[in-house]
Amino acid sequence: MTTPAAPHAAPPLWTAAEILAATGGRGQEGWTASGVSIDSRTIAPGELFVAIQGDRHDGHAFAADALARGAAAAIVARSVENVPAAANLVWVEETLEALRRIGAAARARTAARLIAVTGSVGKTGTKEALRHVLAAQGPTHASAGSLNNHWGLPLSLARLPRETRFAVLEMGMNHAGEITPLSLLARPHVALITTVEAVHLEFFASVEAIADAKSEIFAGMDHGGIAVLNRDNAHYERCAAAARAKGIHRILGFGADRRAEFRLLDADFGAAGSLVRADAMGRVLTFRIGVPGRHIVQNMLGVLAAVEAAGGDVEAASRALATLTPPAGRGARSAIALPGGGTASLIDESYNASPAAMRAAIAVLAAMPPGPGGRRILALGDMRELGEAGPMLHAGLAPAIEEAGIDLVFTCGPLMQNLHEALLPAQRGAHALDSEDLAPMLAAALRPGDVVTVKGSLGSRMAIVVKALAAAGAAAAPPR
Ligand SMILES: Nc1ncnc2c1ncn2[C@@H]1O[C@H](COP(=O)(O)OP(=O)(O)OP(=O)(O)O)[C@@H](O)[C@H]1O
Ligand SMILES: [Mg+2]
Repeated sequence: MTTPAAPHAAPPLWTAAEILAATGGRGQEGWTASGVSIDSRTIAPGELFVAIQGDRHDGHAFAADALARGAAAAIVARSVENVPAAANLVWVEETLEALRRIGAAARARTAARLIAVTGSVGKTGTKEALRHVLAAQGPTHASAGSLNNHWGLPLSLARLPRETRFAVLEMGMNHAGEITPLSLLARPHVALITTVEAVHLEFFASVEAIADAKSEIFAGMDHGGIAVLNRDNAHYERCAAAARAKGIHRILGFGADRRAEFRLLDADFGAAGSLVRADAMGRVLTFRIGVPGRHIVQNMLGVLAAVEAAGGDVEAASRALATLTPPAGRGARSAIALPGGGTASLIDESYNASPAAMRAAIAVLAAMPPGPGGRRILALGDMRELGEAGPMLHAGLAPAIEEAGIDLVFTCGPLMQNLHEALLPAQRGAHALDSEDLAPMLAAALRPGDVVTVKGSLGSRMAIVVKALAAAGAAAAPPR
């Protein structure tokens, strides 16, 4: 019998000396950090706290709390109250800049292949799928949640472990010019743009302008970089031209287009997932994806192209997609017990919504067979940030809903009023002011066998509806 090797303690993520050198800050040495956090509510003992001035809160107010919870040290730009004299403080001029510098130091020391993911929809789902398939091939680090903005990206980089083979970083934006500094900081080897759609129209004059803003992801790449682009998207050429203008000449397209390097040959779109045949640069692959939807198939072709670009094993990655599960609020399914007995199925899409994502979710619901006596039901909250086109884009969902054969549509919010009015009378469920008012109406209408998709922008708080349905079911379940 062989004895297992003695476990090595993982090296610390950061030493005090490294943090002081990276930030140019002043403070005590002699500590190490196992992680980096900007939130005292979720910080784990041993992590480094960075007191960031946010939109609503100033992290300096929470430094004492973070240290009391066992933070190894706190990076601060001004004096903080109620902190023990022995606490490790790192004094810097500006804390967000310090976080960026730590991110830059992480980037400078890593040997990982970095994949940056942006796009109008599907960033997080695609990033999580890359994490899923690459983790089986080597140490992989990916951004948590949707940490994709001017502080989320530096934080994700600062958390990059020393020994990482693949790093997957989400990059997002609401305005032109926001992705450039993220790309300059992360200097990705591979940039994947999932798709370019009419999202955040409020802040853009045209969808072309959105394509240009997404193409800023090439800003920090060198000539050896690889762009992974949606070959079926109307803005493919525009993004490809932007990549070439940055000196990036290797472009991998994905999609159904004949010219795509990662090309969809055919697919069986099932209720529980898809069976796909694809041509991956001349090699035919057949694989299952554990999450349903044509849009997911599209994204996963992008995932395989990015795996290729990052030097991973594409075939192994395709096989790993069989065990993919949807991230929270993005298609997770559950059964809900109904107060009168029986169950309905819930598809929780409460995290996010845009016209493109709504259409994708409607198509998935159309492919879901209800149980005996059941119906296909949508519960929809407002899609935010669409600007003047908002009312029109909400009403404009009606034909897709009609075509998909959805039985009933419940809506809430001022923008969804437009959809409510545009629906066929037979498809019209109730309309409510907000999700809190809608939840009991929907709960009362559900019958055994129903399949219900709950979706809306995060700000529409459709998670309230999901929670209410689950709670009603739990209350109705017989005591154990
Ligand atoms: N290619 C696609 N086409 C249309 N809809 C999509 C596509 N990919 C994902 N979606 C849908 O878009 C929604 C958002 O997905 P996801 O959270 O992955 O996007 P995101 O780009 O990370 O969003 P955020 O901007 O909030 O970070 C989900 O409802 C998802 O099903
Ligand atoms: Mg996201």
